[in-house]
Amino acid sequence: MNFEKKMSKSQLKKYFKNNDKRLIHKWNHYFDIYERHFSRFKNRPIVLLEIGVFHGGSLQMWKDYFGESVQVYGVDINPECKKLEEDQVEIHIGSQTDRSFLRQLKKKIPPVDILIDDGGHIMKQQKVTFEELFDHVKEDGIYLCEDTHSSYMYEYGGGYRRRGTFIEFSKRFIDYIHAFHSQQRSLKPDSFTKSVDSVHYYDSIVVIEKQKRQPPFDEQTGIESYKSTYQNSPPKYKALIKKVIGKTLQVLRVGSFR
Ligand SMILES: C[S@@+](CC[C@H](N)C(=O)[O-])C[C@H]1O[C@@H](n2cnc3c(N)ncnc32)[C@H](O)[C@@H]1O
Repeated sequence: MNFEKKMSKSQLKKYFKNNDKRLIHKWNHYFDIYERHFSRFKNRPIVLLEIGVFHGGSLQMWKDYFGESVQVYGVDINPECKKLEEDQVEIHIGSQTDRSFLRQLKKKIPPVDILIDDGGHIMKQQKVTFEELFDHVKEDGIYLCEDTHSSYMYEYGGGYRRRGTFIEFSKRFIDYIHAFHSQQRSLKPDSFTKSVDSVHYYDSIVVIEKQKRQPPFDEQTGIESYKSTYQNSPPKYKALIKKVIGKTLQVLRVGSFR
């Protein structure tokens, strides 16, 4: 890693450690994750929306990190937060579970490059915010949900493999990112499949990187190195037999053993 990259990797952490402006509350391993996904947006005229303003410190940090052409929006349920507006920072007061508030918000602010959900962290808040605001993230933008460890904590409505947690809800992202390859009617490519390039799971953070996608295709180039017995495409009748057997076993709820 070159010197310049190393310096930029530590920029947010440095800001946080030396912060003598408004209070920021973040977990210490988040900064490297931010750098990894956000650095490409630095010094660009981007729009960032953070749900959960608290004392306003993170909004100031984003301004410092992205530069003078970033427009930062904050959302918080606490009306006190409105006082924290400043140059490049606009704050909207409302609840992240209030669908009509979120729909109005989309009319008031431009599509966003980066959306950070650092609100109340309960399951309904994280799910409603995703459902309402994901389509307001630009084509090559990022949706980042923080503190997803709440999916494992009873006080937030969480629990390991508990129905309705944000993490359980997010497991469908894995299915839909593969949906171009699905052979079943119950999994068909949808807008998520066509607009998401990758999903990243970290301890307590889920990052969704958007990018327009077409069904992918595979190719071979170059010269064979030996006489290959491996058949990338087996004869059609063999593939069909395997498909029928696989489908039958799935209907009979027999797990995969191949
Ligand atoms: C963890 S703090 C945000 C920390 C801040 N982003 C930072 O990094 O310093 C959570 C914030 O979410 C707000 N909040 C809680 N429930 C909310 C809701 N339903 N809608 C919007 N904001 C909410 C709280 O008022 C609080 O200010």
